[in-house]
Amino acid sequence: MEKLKIIGGSRLEGSIECSGSKNAALPILAASILSDRTITFDNLPYLQDITTMFELLGSMGVDIVLDESMKFSVDSSNLNNFEARYELVKTMRASILVLGALLGRYGQAKIALPGGCAIGTRPVNFHLTALEQMGAEIELDGGYIVAKAKKLSGADITFGGVTVTGTENLIMAAVLADGKTVLRNAAREPEVVDLANFLNSIGAKIEGAGTDEIRITGVAELKGGDCFIPSDRIEAGTYLAAATLTKGCITINKVDPNRLENILSKLRLCGADIKTTNESVSIEMNSDINPVDIQTQPFPGFPTDMQAQFTVINALSKGSSVITENVFENRFMHVQELVRMGCNISIQGKNAFIQGVKAITGAQVMATDLRASACLILAGLCAEGETIVDRIYHIDRGYERIEEKLSYLGANIVRLPR
Ligand code: EPU
Repeated sequence: MEKLKIIGGSRLEGSIECSGSKNAALPILAASILSDRTITFDNLPYLQDITTMFELLGSMGVDIVLDESMKFSVDSSNLNNFEARYELVKTMRASILVLGALLGRYGQAKIALPGGCAIGTRPVNFHLTALEQMGAEIELDGGYIVAKAKKLSGADITFGGVTVTGTENLIMAAVLADGKTVLRNAAREPEVVDLANFLNSIGAKIEGAGTDEIRITGVAELKGGDCFIPSDRIEAGTYLAAATLTKGCITINKVDPNRLENILSKLRLCGADIKTTNESVSIEMNSDINPVDIQTQPFPGFPTDMQAQFTVINALSKGSSVITENVFENRFMHVQELVRMGCNISIQGKNAFIQGVKAITGAQVMATDLRASACLILAGLCAEGETIVDRIYHIDRGYERIEEKLSYLGANIVRLPR
């Protein structure tokens, strides 16, 4: 298994480009099967999760072509298999995103039920109940969700809890359904807006994305078109956290600062000096870190996908803080590894009580999920000596060329072969 070796202590300086967003690209790729025309994608991030989504679409009969300008085209006119196999779903839970589109366009889907994962049990009951309200018949059989519908009908749906992929699945199910669908208590994440914008650009009628009430009027068919994947706010936030921790001075280009407001405001409270333009964020950190309390919440609250990174920031701050994880029930797996590096953190229920320390030391640590991996890399960047992060296949699911980007900014980080 590949590992990352980091020698801590380098100040990050310089500028990098933000990649396309994983969590925007995955639902948009799934949504492309709602049209039988060609859809061309620009700015897709080069990530394992994107490869897995292509593998899934390919296994369903979708033609995928990479042209000379590195743009991918997806053509689902030959789609003839309506199944997402367990082998794929177990490596990427977001495979569930093809459920709404398959049911909406083909009236059938067989998707392996995603199990729990390192950050929680993560059921999909809100997706299934809402699809049933639209007329789908759903059974669980042999570890698979087996769903059928002659034609989905618009419905007035109130989600039992805020769910990002659930909202995305229901948007996709409703786009070609008979009549109007209203989604209440919908997720407001920017990636939901990206999906709605893409679908509207190829002929869908979706209003209200970005609010908690989304209204969709079914249309007969969708056109082909082009899609530029917007920047990844969590990737950008992770590099800004790295600069804060290393007392660095960096600029991230090709990023929309408006999407990062909840992260930038916390970094400012930490003491960072932040400047933005329409498409860049610059950060400079010259002082000791002020601790900041964090409560993760669905958007526009503080993102759970930045919680692990802020755990390290607080662990190296000059005081005490509390981080409360409200979205997932088990997203503190990184803490035990941070404690091994010298951090002073205790977990009680959904709270992490953190007492900042002046310095931490490098160690061999194990990544348990995507954002936990990012957090351990950040810890390695500011630790004394050498840190080896094991199981980095997690990081390759969601961060494009992370060691290259960090090296470019001056970090001492290399990938060790298997
Ligand atoms: N939930 C239910 N029932 C459901 C759906 C969700 O109880 O039917 C619960 C979950 O267990 C969780 C909470 O609701 O406690 C929120 O889960 P949500 O459905 O919003 O999460 P998700 O859609 O599975 C997406 C992102 C995650 C991100 C969360 C929260 C994608 C592909 N994944 O997951 O991204 O953490 O929203 O913002 O968009 C990551 O990128 O590292 C990542 C985990």
